[in-house]
Amino acid sequence: MIEKLLDEEMIYSRVCEIGRQISADYRNRDLLLLCILKGSVIFLADLMRQITIPYEIDFMAVDSYGKGVRESTGTVRIAKDLSEPITGRHVLIIEDIVDAGHTLFYIIRSLHLRRPASLKICALLDKPDRRKVEVYADYVGFTIPDKFVFGYGLDLDGKHRGLPFVGVEV
Ligand code: IMP
Ligand code: MG
Repeated sequence: MIEKLLDEEMIYSRVCEIGRQISADYRNRDLLLLCILKGSVIFLADLMRQITIPYEIDFMAVDSYGKGVRESTGTVRIAKDLSEPITGRHVLIIEDIVDAGHTLFYIIRSLHLRRPASLKICALLDKPDRRKVEVYADYVGFTIPDKFVFGYGLDLDGKHRGLPFVGVEV
């Protein structure tokens, strides 16, 4: 059985709030939204329509899980890199969820070397109880308990990404 942890209305209103906040914070800045594939695509698509200032988008994919495993291994590799340099740009990472933190820790370290003007994190979900390395998101949609969630872009063994809500198995 699938139970809704966050329903459509809750997600929509929070995404609107974050979009307004980003629009205010990045006014007159060269903003690049960097979407971490694949889990963040729906969050990005909804957030884009709530940001009222100019911006560009780019994508990056990393692997940190073994197939069928629900814990990140701590070993992260870039599976698809950005298409453009980010030197001097204000980069906002759009991530689905911060769990142990290994993925973002690795991404931040590798992006810092490319000298962006600023580098911040916007995560739809945060599971602070699971943190293994120190990573903090600057914008967080929802802080959630230590449960494996899926839907709204996030997958359960590759499935359920298209659910319009964030669900848990019960
Ligand atoms: P971390 O390296 O442990 O922080 O893992 C982060 C990545 O693992 C996220 O970008 C997700 O792709 C995936 N992940 C972590 N927790 C969940 C979950 O509850 N559901 C689906 N994917 C998750
Ligand atoms: Mg991810």
